[in-house]
Amino acid sequence: MNSNSLVSIDDISRDEILDLIERARFFEEHPDQKILDGKVVATLFFEPSTRTRLSFETAVNRLGGRVIGFSDASTTSSSKGETLKDTIKMVSNYVDLIIMRHYLEGAARYATEVTDVPVINAGDGANQHPSQTMLDLYSISKTQGKLNDLTITMVGDLKYGRTVHSLLMALRYFNPTFHFVACDELKMPKEYKDFCDANGLKYYEHTEFSQDVINASDILYMTRVQRERFTDIMEYEKVKNLYNLHASMLADAKPNLRVLHPLPRVNEIAQDVDDDPKAYYFEQARNGLYARQAIICKALGIDIYKEAKV
Ligand code: CP
Repeated sequence: MNSNSLVSIDDISRDEILDLIERARFFEEHPDQKILDGKVVATLFFEPSTRTRLSFETAVNRLGGRVIGFSDASTTSSSKGETLKDTIKMVSNYVDLIIMRHYLEGAARYATEVTDVPVINAGDGANQHPSQTMLDLYSISKTQGKLNDLTITMVGDLKYGRTVHSLLMALRYFNPTFHFVACDELKMPKEYKDFCDANGLKYYEHTEFSQDVINASDILYMTRVQRERFTDIMEYEKVKNLYNLHASMLADAKPNLRVLHPLPRVNEIAQDVDDDPKAYYFEQARNGLYARQAIICKALGIDIYKEAKV
């Protein structure tokens, strides 16, 4: 296993998180740095993606490296029955870094066990999405001017949403107060509430998306109900329309409130929110480029402050 891999946000310390945020800030100011000359990066996406894959690939391109990979596993030999182990071992022959999204929880951890090439987890099932968490933390830091002592409300699919699971774990260092808004079928899993208890994090659970909760929040983190995780489509139909944010609901929110969403959205944020200054989800996605530039350099052991030309 390569110790530069990023599989779970739980693998990195508070100082490493803060350092990555500073490096993301550096790349926002200096995005075009040809410090990956000669490096080849694989993006292996066994599940669909728009932002994660394209921002990782843009990050490599802006850093002067090269990308190989696939966005549709049905075009690869895994469709002929090749195992994940063999795919990872093969790709490791060709590249310096593997970025992988997989539908199975634990797939990224497993990949690190069969290769010496660093692996970045770009999402494994309902488990973890650590690079999303880094861009979320960067977005929170930019919009709030701090990470400490914030009230963070997570809304929607808290059961299957890997982004909320990763974010919750990372925020343990920053004394958050959480509000979890979800129906019983999609509430925050017990293991994450146990994690909050073990780390002394305050949380409150709600089934109603009330005005009081919105008005108390610094960050409103909306999420999509993840149809692809349901085995029974009727169960999805029952819960898919429960929580919808409209611009009028932000009228009495705190001035510093920002609406985040990992995207894609379906119907949980109405289009009229897009024009509200509190909407931040498109900027959030742009921050993904800078955060991922920082993550890639860390995984490759590149000291950007030595290598970059500013
Ligand atoms: N936020 C996120 O993971 O988006 P994609 O699924 O488009 O990569």
